[in-house]
Amino acid sequence: MHVSIDHDLCQGHARCWEICPEVFELDDEGSGRTLVDEVPAELGERVQEAADNCPERAITLH
Ligand code: F3S
Repeated sequence: MHVSIDHDLCQGHARCWEICPEVFELDDEGSGRTLVDEVPAELGERVQEAADNCPERAITLH
């Protein structure tokens, strides 16, 4: 599973990072950033949860 953040949509709500810090972090400006492109299988469920909880729907999984 591939994960990406649309930086035009991200408003820095940080829920992604709170839910799955193994995959998401905040950059110096407080915007979400992915640490990996391919999500390890064991983190798939939490990355999905992070995507579902982003108020801006900025996280795409495919
Ligand atoms: Fe941005 Fe959504 Fe995360 S707004 S910081 S991608 S929860």
